Amino acid sequence: MIVVMSIGGSILAPTLDSKNFGKYAEAIKEIAKKHTVFVVAGGGAIAREYIQVVRNLSANEAICDIIGIDVTRLNARLLISALGKDAHPVPPTNYEEAERAASSGKIVVMGGVAPGQTTDAVAAILAEYIQADLLVSATSIDGVYTTDPKNAGAKKLDRITPEQLVDIVMKSEMKAGAQSIMDPLAAKIIERSKIRTIVLDGSNPKSIVDAVLNGKHNGTEIIL
Ligand code: UTP
Repeated sequence: MIVVMSIGGSILAPTLDSKNFGKYAEAIKEIAKKHTVFVVAGGGAIAREYIQVVRNLSANEAICDIIGIDVTRLNARLLISALGKDAHPVPPTNYEEAERAASSGKIVVMGGVAPGQTTDAVAAILAEYIQADLLVSATSIDGVYTTDPKNAGAKKLDRITPEQLVDIVMKSEMKAGAQSIMDPLAAKIIERSKIRTIVLDGSNPKSIVDAVLNGKHNGTEIIL
């Protein structure tokens, strides 16, 4: 199967730690033994720090986004280094390049592509473009909740339809560096192309392996 994995910066680079990149690289390699794998790396706290600095310098939101994209690409490059010869050596900057890169048989790792979205949307559009069988969105939150999980009374949902996902995430804020379980654009893409999707807590990379290889996870499954 063709698998697209969005690995949030909150788990890939909570701090800059080569060992952590190494752990994700090992998990990705395990999956890539059986499946064709594309990875989209997030920016995390480091991206938000950069965005805050440029925003304080009176940059507009599009420029803040471009700074965020650069950080996601840096994280993609670090993950490529951790994957070594198994990875395509440079992060593609668009979907066509990503597809071409995959023809080498190597693992393709990319970051952001355009302002106004997050790497969740990149992963969903990539999954649509290459007709992936599975999209995995791995973050530090263990699934999709009825409202912000910080709110009292928020309930985790084990299985939801793409329409429910769209309804939930549409309430989130759209701003460079904003945090929500999923970018609304990603949810709309999942809805229109009926992409099988799992949203899970990937802070332990083994849980991503278990979800893809064995179908076992404690996250939220978007049912078609
Ligand atoms: P992320 O995808 O990392 O955002 O992109 P995130 O939702 O904060 O995810 P985590 O924390 O990594 O899990 C970081 C920022 O880069 C810009 C946006 O400003 C985003 O908030 N970005 C990223 C884009 O503008 N376009 C892209 O295609 C990707």
